[in-house]
Amino acid sequence: MSASENSTAAVLALVAPDMAEVDRVIAQRLDSGVPLVGDVARYIISAGGKRLRPVLLLLSCGALGFTGAQRHNLAAVVEFIHTATLLHDDVVDESTLRRGRPTANENFGNPASVLVGDFLYSRAFQMMVDAGSMRVMQTLADATNVIAEGEVLQLMNMHDASLDEEGYLRVIRSKTAKLFEASARLGAILAQSSADIEAACAEYGQALGTAFQVIDDVLDYDGNAAEMGKNLGDDLREGKATLPLILAMQRGTSAQSQVVREAIETGSVDQLDDIVRIVRETGALDATRDAAAAEAQRAIHAAMQLPDNAYRQAMVVLASQLLNRRT
Ligand code: IPE
Ligand code: IPE
Ligand code: MG
Ligand code: MG
Repeated sequence: MSASENSTAAVLALVAPDMAEVDRVIAQRLDSGVPLVGDVARYIISAGGKRLRPVLLLLSCGALGFTGAQRHNLAAVVEFIHTATLLHDDVVDESTLRRGRPTANENFGNPASVLVGDFLYSRAFQMMVDAGSMRVMQTLADATNVIAEGEVLQLMNMHDASLDEEGYLRVIRSKTAKLFEASARLGAILAQSSADIEAACAEYGQALGTAFQVIDDVLDYDGNAAEMGKNLGDDLREGKATLPLILAMQRGTSAQSQVVREAIETGSVDQLDDIVRIVRETGALDATRDAAAAEAQRAIHAAMQLPDNAYRQAMVVLASQLLNRRT
């Protein structure tokens, strides 16, 4: 086992008993009198997934000393919200592979995916009411709303080769980082921490989530489908101007920039091999990884403002290992 696997394993071991409880809550709350709901929801949830957002919530609870049962309920809530976004995202992105299996849309069709996504969102809202806290509901309602906004914004940016780094960041902070931010913030809210500590948790989650999506966008060109359980090249096929492409257009010769621009505008994957070569040769992939590293550093800096204990240490390890992720 490599050193990085080892430390990530240590992070997961710290929350393993809690995660078993979260999985129990998830299974229990998936029940519905309508069989197709459970079939589709279980299909995607039982395929696994890294369960990163629940882990984040549990680590922030641990760091701040909250040990109440609500942490398991809310950890299940953030995983439900995440799963709902994936069901909808795969329809919008026309993706066919997720978590190493055909996507739910591929298996059950778009209508079932959209509607079961709605079921999971609304189930998540039923569950968060149980926390009996306006701050909890506000945080999750805001996050869910911002994620939807981010996905719409991304739709508007499709095939726009003039999207710059700032425009790209705006999308990923909304569609991805917001739920990481909410997950880490919830630990502070549950623990009734000070405003400063809550802000540090939120910043940690936001920075970690941003780094996470930046790496996801690298892996779409530089990953391995078998490891990721998702297909490569999905972003290009959709004409998504992600950071590797934005930086390749800035750094490349005019001929290289032209190839990338045309692919974004047409959404053609005919030149995928060329584009993979261009993002490598121009140093765009390395520069994108550097951008993720800067965000991970920001996350670590924020985590250092929390009390010094094993959970805080795990948050630091998670951020420092993120750049090595291949799945
Ligand atoms: C996938 O998230 C969507 C992105 C934000 C890139 P994850 O990579 O956390 O997905 P699972 O839950 O582990 O499958
Ligand atoms: C993340 O975007 C989707 C959400 C956060 C809803 P992507 O479209 O890049 O995620 P994958 O690659 O399909 O997992
Ligand atoms: Mg997608
Ligand atoms: Mg992706």
